[in-house]
Amino acid sequence: MTLHPVPTPGAGSRVGGLDSRDAAAIKACCAVGYSSDLVSLLLGDSYHPGGLSLTRRLLDTLDLAPGERLLDVASGIGTSCLLAATEYDVRVDGVDLSPANVALASGGAAARGLGNRARFHNGDAEALPLPDHGWDAVICECALCTFPDKPTAAAEMTRVLRPGGRVGITDLTADQQRLPTELTGLGAWIACVADARSTEDYEQLLHDAGLRVARVEHHRDALDRMIHHLWARLDLLRIISRERLEAAGVDFARVRPVLGAAQAAVRDGILDYVLIVAEKPA
Ligand SMILES: C[S@@+](CC[C@H](N)C(=O)[O-])C[C@H]1O[C@@H](n2cnc3c(N)ncnc32)[C@H](O)[C@@H]1O
Repeated sequence: MTLHPVPTPGAGSRVGGLDSRDAAAIKACCAVGYSSDLVSLLLGDSYHPGGLSLTRRLLDTLDLAPGERLLDVASGIGTSCLLAATEYDVRVDGVDLSPANVALASGGAAARGLGNRARFHNGDAEALPLPDHGWDAVICECALCTFPDKPTAAAEMTRVLRPGGRVGITDLTADQQRLPTELTGLGAWIACVADARSTEDYEQLLHDAGLRVARVEHHRDALDRMIHHLWARLDLLRIISRERLEAAGVDFARVRPVLGAAQAAVRDGILDYVLIVAEKPA
């Protein structure tokens, strides 16, 4: 979990309870934050708890058949898409708001000779630049929690899915009433915590978008492991490259209490990581 500069309040129309200018700023800030070298130093290639083993679990639950079309919404640097194309023999599209991530993902596909089976597009999850009913399955890993207008994003996933298709999300859940102050406010948005919802809220969101929830799994251990991993990486980076990281804006004094609060929140059941699969009626 990382913290990045946050937008100042604006005066636009309302989007998902937020001022529209704040919503746009949060999205832009999130895309920039998740394109930084620091994030890949801290998180590796897979920007979600559970890494590739949880991605494989998600893809297994979607029961993908060879040749099917899979869309990854907020595909980051393309790691899950490339795994799906190579291990599950599906054709994949990824959409991400960050042009830098899209470029890295496209480069990764070309380097692996997957250029004709893995395509990456720059775009917003709340207005996917893709036609209706074109995909057999859609995944979205650790990103729905950051979208300011979640109902629109869920409706977009449903729109691009063929009848009978499946959506699989993995995401952070939070009991917002019990969240410690270190993990609240706009400052925690890009850390995925500030607008994370309960499992029931995500289920309702998918239901309201016209999907039928078929499976719910809790993966709190994956979140706990990710926070331990972040502590370890930060400690190492502090030893080997403190000055450069501080020059790049990392405030160790500020990050450590946030990680500590996150670890306690996981232990107390305030934060969790959930996998949900839902189907679009045939
Ligand atoms: C936590 S990372 C997850 C990336 C990838 N799903 C993974 O698990 O490795 C969040 C990603 O969402 C992207 N993102 C944020 N807001 C977005 C939006 N509104 N539309 C599309 N992508 C978005 C960011 O650029 C970033 O790549």
